[in-house]
Amino acid sequence: MPQIPLIPESAPFTSEQRAWLNGFLAGIISRGESAGPAAATTNTVSRPLLIAFGSQSGNAESLAKRLARDATSRGFAARAAGLDSLQPADLVREQNVLLITSTWGEGDMPDNAISFWDALNQNGSSPKLNGVKYSVLALGDLNYGDTFCLAGKKLDTRLAELGAVRVAPRVDCDVEFDDLAKTWSTAAFAALTGEEKVETPDTTAPASEPTVETGYTKKNPFPAPLIANIALNSPSSAKDTRHIAFSLTGSSLTYEVGDALGVYVKNCPDVVDAIITTHGFDAENIVSLPDGGTAPLREALIGHYEVRHLQGVLPTETIAAPDFISGLRKLQPRLYSIASSLKAHPEEVHLCVGAVRYEAHGIQHKGVASTFLADRLALGDTTGVFFHVAKHFRLPTDLTKPVIMIGPGTGIAPFRAFLEEREATGASGKNWLFFGDQRRASDFLYHDQIVQWVQKGVLSRLDTAFSRDQEEKVYVQTRMLTAAAELWQWLEEGAHFYVCGDAKRMAKDVDAALHEIIQSAGGKTAEEATAYVADMKKNKRYQRDVY
Ligand SMILES: Cc1cc2nc3c(=O)[nH]c(=O)nc-3n(C[C@H](O)[C@H](O)[C@H](O)COP(=O)(O)OP(=O)(O)OC[C@H]3O[C@@H](n4cnc5c(N)ncnc54)[C@H](O)[C@@H]3O)c2cc1C
Ligand SMILES: NC(=O)c1ccc[n+]([C@@H]2O[C@H](COP(=O)([O-])OP(=O)(O)OC[C@H]3O[C@@H](n4cnc5c(N)ncnc54)[C@H](OP(=O)(O)O)[C@@H]3O)[C@@H](O)[C@H]2O)c1
Ligand SMILES: Cc1cc2nc3c(=O)[nH]c(=O)nc-3n(C[C@H](O)[C@H](O)[C@H](O)COP(=O)(O)O)c2cc1C
Repeated sequence: MPQIPLIPESAPFTSEQRAWLNGFLAGIISRGESAGPAAATTNTVSRPLLIAFGSQSGNAESLAKRLARDATSRGFAARAAGLDSLQPADLVREQNVLLITSTWGEGDMPDNAISFWDALNQNGSSPKLNGVKYSVLALGDLNYGDTFCLAGKKLDTRLAELGAVRVAPRVDCDVEFDDLAKTWSTAAFAALTGEEKVETPDTTAPASEPTVETGYTKKNPFPAPLIANIALNSPSSAKDTRHIAFSLTGSSLTYEVGDALGVYVKNCPDVVDAIITTHGFDAENIVSLPDGGTAPLREALIGHYEVRHLQGVLPTETIAAPDFISGLRKLQPRLYSIASSLKAHPEEVHLCVGAVRYEAHGIQHKGVASTFLADRLALGDTTGVFFHVAKHFRLPTDLTKPVIMIGPGTGIAPFRAFLEEREATGASGKNWLFFGDQRRASDFLYHDQIVQWVQKGVLSRLDTAFSRDQEEKVYVQTRMLTAAAELWQWLEEGAHFYVCGDAKRMAKDVDAALHEIIQSAGGKTAEEATAYVADMKKNKRYQRDVY
């Protein structure tokens, strides 16, 4: 196993390219596989390591890639790979496997883990994984209660059932996963090398993603001024959806259509004041902040802690403010699908935000972020934003490919961006939009722009489903089924199929309708339709951005 750089200093590469190539070649020589970048000379023996990821919105994917670089610098010949590119047999071949997966929907596998999960559960022909050493890191969100990290838990159990040996216990992570991921990877690396503790590499190469961040990131968000807040529903509507725009001037930030924007928000002062009064706290009491430092209680509750579950909760016993604070979670930024293309709106980013307002147990609740944007952030005021790259949700690079977009309600957001992009790039591929909401008269979001796209021919076909304009419900999937023959024809022409919006009901029903169309119009059996859809996913022709 060569431990000297394979690409000489004189070769025409940047130092980063050279480091990556050296790692790559070292990996090939050691076992015919590709290694991540930042390979470095280490004092441990090189071992093959597969870091497999199941990821919907990129967290597990970027973590897996970061850990592959880390592992490479620790002497492993490591590579990161999506579960959609793997078969159970690959695990047997690789022997050392770290698996990182998020949970999606309601305890579901992320899209790119579904085919792998199915392969692990084939009736009667379950693969044997004897000899495989593994550990699982599960990403999730405690807010999901019973389904917390369920995909990771299921994969962990199934791998053991099939004979693989768990070398380090599974770790389940809430939204702030960085520290736990580090603890888990340290334990897993040590277990795989059979050492008490993993040796630190004798290199100056970074062990993980560069910590010196350039520009604006999640940890260093850009204070973006709000430049538009426009009601997209007419006053008679039951809904309140806003077109929100921020200026990016001075940030040098860019994004691609399909990406999401992370937005830092604040709790409603009225809600916080009610909590302080109910508990009899002193608003000026100095308390700890989640990331260190201190602040007066009221300021801490407005800007730093999640309090929405406390609305209307009566205290059963007296509690001191510091104890109260210690039981609260850190206030999280919210993600929104980007609704604009930079080609149409230079230095701007647009969102389509549905204000969450509902009544439960006689109490009026309002969504923290959506009402912060809709009601409390004034034009010209700034809030921290960052870009969340969504590699899983991209327009086809081949501009001639047809595109089918299913985007009811706020699900329209990324498709406004897609259509702006397709128009600006002069993409010749056909575009078909399915949009739906409650009523045509009050809820046809971005009506004028959509109608203009139809008139200009940017939209080859538009199907709308206004659910409450008639007795029986008409949904986007109703329209899909009516247009089954043409939809099938588009799929056979290589169309890319996109879904955005509600994950709980709509995305599942649309998926069922897609299977039904492939059977009825495509003349396939149920099994063949499943295989057809799996193939679409594998070829990135079926992409979802659902929440
Ligand atoms: C990748 C991604 C993209 C997204 N894109 C968009 C987008 O383009 N537009 C958009 O509007 N949102 C989008 N969202 C959702 C968005 O991030 C927020 O979750 C949403 O705005 C609600 O946040 P909030 O802080 O206002 O509500 P919160 O304060 O977080 O409250 C929401 C919670 O309230 C509860 N709740 C809501 N309604 C009811 C009800 N009727 N009855 C009982 N309980 C209820 C539920 O527990 C729900 O989880 C996206 C999410 C993701 C992950
Ligand atoms: N995870 C989160 O934190 C979070 C936060 C906010 C919103 N959301 C989800 O995001 C969704 C988007 O909200 P939105 O207000 O923009 O739109 P929406 O509630 O999805 O409504 C858009 C249209 O979809 C229809 N619809 C309802 N059920 C459907 C189904 N099974 N299949 C297809 N269409 C269906 C609605 O009809 P009817 O209303 O007439 O039934 C309406 O006409 C919400 O439903 C919510 O579930 C999630
Ligand atoms: C629509 C949606 C559904 C989710 N469902 C669950 C769930 O059922 N259980 C859970 O623990 N986490 C759930 N999560 C949280 C994700 O697992 C978590 O955000 C994770 O970090 C995402 O990682 P990824 O970007 O690699 O997919 C959900 C998140 C979203 C947006």
